[in-house]
Amino acid sequence: MPVIAVIGAQWGDEGKGKVVDMLAERADMVIRFSGGDNAGHTVINSLGKFAVSLVPSGILSPGTVCVMGNGMAISPAVLLKEMDGLAGRGIDFGGLHISDRANLIMPYHRLIDGFEEETRGEQAIGTTRRGIGPAFADKVARRGIRVGDLLDPVVFRDRLAQVLEYKNAIITKVFGGEALSLDDIHREYCGYAERLAPYICETTRIIAEAIDRGDEVLLEGAQGTLLDPDFGTYPFCTSSSPLAGSSALGAGIGPRRIDAVVGIFKSYCSRVGTGPFPTELKDEMGDLIRERGAEFGTVTGRPRRCGWFDAVAARFSHRVNGFSSIALTRLDILDGMPSLKICTGYELDGKAIDDFPSSIQSLERCRPILEELPGWTAPTSDVRQRDALPPEAQRYVDRIEELISSPVSIISVGAAREQTIICRDVV
Ligand code: GDP
Ligand code: IMO
Ligand code: MG
Repeated sequence: MPVIAVIGAQWGDEGKGKVVDMLAERADMVIRFSGGDNAGHTVINSLGKFAVSLVPSGILSPGTVCVMGNGMAISPAVLLKEMDGLAGRGIDFGGLHISDRANLIMPYHRLIDGFEEETRGEQAIGTTRRGIGPAFADKVARRGIRVGDLLDPVVFRDRLAQVLEYKNAIITKVFGGEALSLDDIHREYCGYAERLAPYICETTRIIAEAIDRGDEVLLEGAQGTLLDPDFGTYPFCTSSSPLAGSSALGAGIGPRRIDAVVGIFKSYCSRVGTGPFPTELKDEMGDLIRERGAEFGTVTGRPRRCGWFDAVAARFSHRVNGFSSIALTRLDILDGMPSLKICTGYELDGKAIDDFPSSIQSLERCRPILEELPGWTAPTSDVRQRDALPPEAQRYVDRIEELISSPVSIISVGAAREQTIICRDVV
């Protein structure tokens, strides 16, 4: 049985939660491998409608073992609130494991995220202000505090005392804020530790055993490829890597254990936050897609910027992830559009290019070269076979498949689990 990575292929919110939920119905284990509560994954299945940000979406499939991997940055306050909300709706956490190597989001991370955004002024990234950037920065600066540190109050206090002295200097001297109290944070986090302790463990062993047993394991991505700190629109990006390559690292498995990499693409593009977006529609068409698609952030409620499907960015995403197949979501949102456009190339300083530039200055000057395709009128939400889609919708999907050069395995035509067309096995 396979290990399948489910990867955001654009700027996030592609519908990873929906696809993971659909695949989790038969999976044994779901592992989140990156990000933190900047993610917001919406799942609609027979249990109801849920928005999860930290807990793997597999928690909504009874009996599935869920792991919060070492690659995550976890806010215990947010996690416990999420768990309480889900428990109140009958969700069982018996199968949840939290890696002791994951990093903790601390109160100073959120504070500094806010200060940094304000300092950036016009150049603000539009972060979710959840402390993600400062927490991952601390991880690589070897100033992070890890989930496992919570298990020993003395170790935790020593570590916190050491780090907080430095953090308070930054808060007070650089940003003019008020110093945080060691006692307060210690007390608060000891309370979290007590509640989370039953779930915290070394997770690489249980994952390896599951794979060795032949369990079906899903690696649940967060964010999207174009928000990656290496390959995304740097510095308008997030701070942990959402790529397929990082899914092995953030779960603690070797890359050779991954059997399939499914790239999740929306049938158009959206982006929340600042940064270049070559196919963005700043006109009524953009408004129409946003309204039809209810494109507002799951985490922050911010309106998402919308635009045409960008095949240049999509090919690049395929290059850096090596998708074995792709899932195309939200095709139904395009129902009833008189015509549609796909970006097949960019024009940069008067020259046609077919590659995604690494510099945002170049990317900002790129004008999309658009190909027009006919729209379709018949609704697609109840379609369950690719060849039963309206012919124009089939042509649209075929064209995207051809431009990316990766086969479409899944077409999603609605938010609910069953509103899905399976074109081929993902493995
Ligand atoms: P994620 O972060 O990648 O999991 O995506 P989000 O959950 O943030 O955003 C995707 C939104 O689209 C959610 O509201 C989903 O319920 C919804 N969704 C997913 N697939 C489809 C689809 O095929 N059609 C429609 N109409 N909505 C979908
Ligand atoms: P899911 O998993 C969409 C964006 C933020 C901002 C940038 C940096 O739901 O697809 P951060 O708080 O991470 O430092 O913000 O990244 N961003 C997302 N956009 N979906 C997400 O997650 C995102 N996570 C971060 O809007 O532009
Ligand atoms: Mg989301």
